[in-house]
Amino acid sequence: MAGRIAEEKIREIQERADILEVVSSYVSLKRSGANYQGLCPFHAEKTPSFNVNPPRQIYHCFGCGVGGDAISFVQRIEGLVFPEAVKRLAERYGIEVEEERLSPEEERRREEAQLLHRINEVAAEFYHRQLMEEPAGLAGRAYLKERGYGRETATRFRLGFAPEGWENLARHLAEKGFDADAVRKLGLIRPGKEKRGDYDLFRRRLIFPILDERGKAAAFGGRVLDAGQPKYINSPESPIYYKSRVLYGLSQARQEMRRSGEAVVVEGYFDVLAMHRAGFANAVATCGTALTAEHGQLLKRYAKRLVLLFDQDSAGLQATLRAMDMLFDAQLPAAVALLEPGEDPDSFLQRQGADALRQRLAAATPVFQFFLEQTLAAHGESIEGRSRAVEAVLAKLRRLPGEIERSLYLRELAHRTGIEEQLLRRQIGQGRRPEPNKQPAYRRPAPAPRDQAPAADGSAARKAQELILQLMLQRPATRRLVEEEGLKYFFTDEVLRGIAAQVIQRFASSSEEVSERILFEHLGEDQQGRLTGILIRDEEFIGESAEKIFEDCRQAARRERLKKRRNALQNLIHEAEKSGDATGRDGYQREFQEIQQQLRSKKL
Ligand code: UTP
Ligand code: MN
Repeated sequence: MAGRIAEEKIREIQERADILEVVSSYVSLKRSGANYQGLCPFHAEKTPSFNVNPPRQIYHCFGCGVGGDAISFVQRIEGLVFPEAVKRLAERYGIEVEEERLSPEEERRREEAQLLHRINEVAAEFYHRQLMEEPAGLAGRAYLKERGYGRETATRFRLGFAPEGWENLARHLAEKGFDADAVRKLGLIRPGKEKRGDYDLFRRRLIFPILDERGKAAAFGGRVLDAGQPKYINSPESPIYYKSRVLYGLSQARQEMRRSGEAVVVEGYFDVLAMHRAGFANAVATCGTALTAEHGQLLKRYAKRLVLLFDQDSAGLQATLRAMDMLFDAQLPAAVALLEPGEDPDSFLQRQGADALRQRLAAATPVFQFFLEQTLAAHGESIEGRSRAVEAVLAKLRRLPGEIERSLYLRELAHRTGIEEQLLRRQIGQGRRPEPNKQPAYRRPAPAPRDQAPAADGSAARKAQELILQLMLQRPATRRLVEEEGLKYFFTDEVLRGIAAQVIQRFASSSEEVSERILFEHLGEDQQGRLTGILIRDEEFIGESAEKIFEDCRQAARRERLKKRRNALQNLIHEAEKSGDATGRDGYQREFQEIQQQLRSKKL
């Protein structure tokens, strides 16, 4: 998948993809001057600070600082890597992107997957039409209505109905020309016994299409309309459906996950519907399995933390405890929200409403805390029970990634059990797994040495550096000058200096304006965010002030270099004296004097 895409292809896609159009399919935007504004999809906010600038084809959020071009937007919002985002845009704009060469086996699998996806799409459409408009869908409509859902939910989740009868879908797919073998692979039809034809898996059931991240149907779940058994049947796994990799509702929930930074994981299909209806649009469900490491990775693309909101029964409890190790390993912070015994999110919302649920979510217990309490309670008060519980907790505590968290829980464990904290600490020291040497997420830039470029803090100084960068983008002469004098004299701000370095590296010899598009490709996320922030304000240069600032910076740079030379000369003079080199000494001294004079004068 991640093969290299030809340079010209990327350009073509950049040319064709329109940022306004791309962003508009995720964010509702309103015009404001040269820009369009809306609520940022990457952080929670109530007043719009997210801007799109069509002339420059960039976006920038003044609230959280992210920014970039159309490709970067797709990457960020879909959780994709660069080549994936490029391909996604190419698809959208109907541009062919050649793939790297596949082996015949890979080719075959790819084609099969495409066929299976097409079949599922046709099936999803068929079921959806039955539910929405066909007379045969009446029972399904009635059932959905009885549970309080209308067309809106049915459309949003592409719900469907499999009508009564043995071969409605089988016939429909055959009419569309699909090969029965392929349909059988998806489990949608099954071979009949004794020379009877294939029959449908889903009959008289409400259909929940299980969509992958792109919104394409990977599988289906179907619920009976009465108390019949089994309550749900699901598509079997297939080359395009692995339960452990798919979350029900993800394609509808991921935007809200991004915005809120949080994902709520529930157990059932109907829980997802109920949550979304009540305004918790970041809810997803596992499809009748435990939360796997793959689920964890998938969620991590969109959310920073999870709330587990499982059914309040023993299966729900088991599911929570089983998810724990995975969550630690994935370093995905999670908390457990509790409901009344016997409730699930759907029934809780029916009974107590959205506000009550919001409170439960806010009061969720961090998973480790939850585990600690459960374990202590489960092992009872006896000495033996206590010590077993402590061992179990310590074993898990060793897996907990954060040092500080670990320490806090040790204290809590000591407090709860009356065992001395020191003893617990010694215990946990045994067999502790090595901690990966983690970098802090944000490193403060080193304080700027005096007499170099304008200090990075202080908005005037930052402004000056931003202006220089802007000049560099527009004027070849400025690029040459900055290169000659040295970047470090102009930029103390690390991020800006990094951008300027790229400008010089890529465009020093170019006699034109810098192509922002090409530049973007060579910038990291922080750098893109900063640059779009500068560009999107789109300030006209007040010619004089820009020139003046640049001149000041240049002077400061010269001064700095002279001072360095002066200090070096002092040493040289000293050494020449020691070794009795009078001519050398005189030469150095002359230069020293000249520099002193220059430094005293205002202009250099
Ligand atoms: P639940 O029995 O809690 O179903 O199973 P639910 O979603 O709350 O549905 P309602 O509200 O009773 O109608 C939770 C999930 O477990 C899977 C389904 O994914 C279901 O949504 N499940 C359950 C099955 O796959 N098969 C079953 O027979 C039961
Ligand atoms: Mn349930």
